[in-house]
Amino acid sequence: MITIEHFGQTPSGQNVERYSLINKNNMQIDILTYGAIIQRWLVPGETPVDIVLGFDQLDSYLNDPSYIGRTVGRYANRIAKGQFELNDNLYQVSTNLGEHSLHGGENGFSARVWMAGVLTEKDNPSIELSLVSEDGDQGFPGKLLAKVTFTLTESNSLHICYDAESDQDTLFNPTQHTYFNLAGHDSGHIGQQIISVNADKYTPASELSIPTGELADVQNSAFDLRQPQPFGSSLTMTDADIKLTYGLDHNWCINGFSMDSQGIQKDINRAAEVFDPISGRRLLVNTSMPGIQVYTGNFIGEELSGKAAAVYAPHHAFCLETQFYPDSPNQPSFPSAMLKKGMKFRSITEYVLE
Ligand code: GLA
Repeated sequence: MITIEHFGQTPSGQNVERYSLINKNNMQIDILTYGAIIQRWLVPGETPVDIVLGFDQLDSYLNDPSYIGRTVGRYANRIAKGQFELNDNLYQVSTNLGEHSLHGGENGFSARVWMAGVLTEKDNPSIELSLVSEDGDQGFPGKLLAKVTFTLTESNSLHICYDAESDQDTLFNPTQHTYFNLAGHDSGHIGQQIISVNADKYTPASELSIPTGELADVQNSAFDLRQPQPFGSSLTMTDADIKLTYGLDHNWCINGFSMDSQGIQKDINRAAEVFDPISGRRLLVNTSMPGIQVYTGNFIGEELSGKAAAVYAPHHAFCLETQFYPDSPNQPSFPSAMLKKGMKFRSITEYVLE
């Protein structure tokens, strides 16, 4: 079942709707047309538990610098100095993290009102959000049509499919920036929730999280999350790289990734898993993308006022952002995020709740 309601209006007068996807198990996921934001994820039970951070008012989203729940594009994560070369042209895109570009620049996809349509087939509530990004939008070449399809399956998986096509060669690297707390969005510190990441390698980074270009083995490093361990172990580490980012905020290279010479992503691989021993909830992330940013909400405001008067603070949530590796346009050894003119981009990410 899908219900639709008015959520607010942007300062420029665009109406924003909230689509609620509800499956047979009574799981409910709410998505806003502003930023294609996942605003609420209700796990059924005697008292339903909302496992994602968010806000009740559109205004709070308009002023949120943390990308809470947003769909991010054209290029998730960082592009060093906002510069890259494509077909011998040098492009300068919008910079919004010092001299660097973060999450698509100042006015990326996460700050747009998307067009929405219902696609529900059989028992799986499904919606498609789309937008047109003009040639030169935030400095990126090519007119790009982007579509994101959210489907809530009967097995309690949120299946997200990203499609895009451009009339010129360009870059495309979409992600989802939901902040999860499996104990409930208002449950505080995530230290006891247990993370594992299916990656033998990660991309070490320098200040402001710009990759050095190296693909380093996780073995014998603070980034070996192949065996499950509580977020708390990472958050209390003295490792210099983790201290630099006040917690986890790094990209792992997912084992099993493959893409053909046309840029078609081949397989869906397990990327990460988080288990909350108290509630018994488990979240699995599967994706066709090559990387995942594991981020422990290090920069959430000290006393951020969230849904239902909840107070959020650093390390009260985690994000599992599937992506091309940060700054891949400037790193020839990283899988390429180039989308060729006329080619059909598709990537899939699923968040499965058990
Ligand atoms: C990503 C980045 C972080 C931070 C958040 C948004 O996860 O890697 O450094 O910018 O987005 O606050």
